[in-house]
Amino acid sequence: MPLLRIEPVGDATLEDWRHVHNTIIPTDPLSSDEVRERVVRNHLEVAYLDDVLVGCATVRPPVGDSATATVIVRVLPAHRRNGYGEEFFAREMAHARASGARTIETIVLASNVDGLRFALSHGFVEVSRYLPPEDDDPFITLRLQ
Ligand SMILES: CC(C)(COP(=O)(O)OP(=O)(O)OC[C@H]1O[C@@H](n2cnc3c(N)ncnc32)[C@H](O)[C@@H]1OP(=O)(O)O)[C@@H](O)C(=O)NCCC(=O)NCCS
Repeated sequence: MPLLRIEPVGDATLEDWRHVHNTIIPTDPLSSDEVRERVVRNHLEVAYLDDVLVGCATVRPPVGDSATATVIVRVLPAHRRNGYGEEFFAREMAHARASGARTIETIVLASNVDGLRFALSHGFVEVSRYLPPEDDDPFITLRLQ
């Protein structure tokens, strides 16, 4: 039985999505307007346990000949290792597949040990790294094999 209540990003949930994103990705904080711009292009959701904010997710729709979608789930550190990431990831993967994705990628900040372990244990393999200018924490792109 699902434990999480998962809601799409709208006016009532946008700031919660942004809070989780900016807490977990402090090197790339987003403004409210940037989230509003992303929600037009991407599938953004927020996860709650009853009314407690637990995490957020981004699914970028499939692109290119390989129909590659990007699936990223984020769970706040205080709520990790309870199985919420697994439940949330399964839901977002199902959304990506239903959108026509044939290849799945995810993106993890190199310093994010929990995220990297999760991706590797779910069959993802590193394919590239991107280091933003004047930064020292690369984003790692991993592809599901
Ligand atoms: C990746 C992420 C979403 C995982 O969230 P999570 O809620 O901790 O995920 P889960 O609880 O499902 O699984 C994490 C670990 O807890 C374990 N676990 C699950 N339920 C548990 C329980 N009740 N008691 C103890 N351990 C448990 C899992 O077996 C897993 O162990 P492992 O790392 O040794 O394989 C989280 O670490 C995160 O937000 N990272 C940063 C964002 C990121 O990099 N995302 C990219 C990946 S898509």
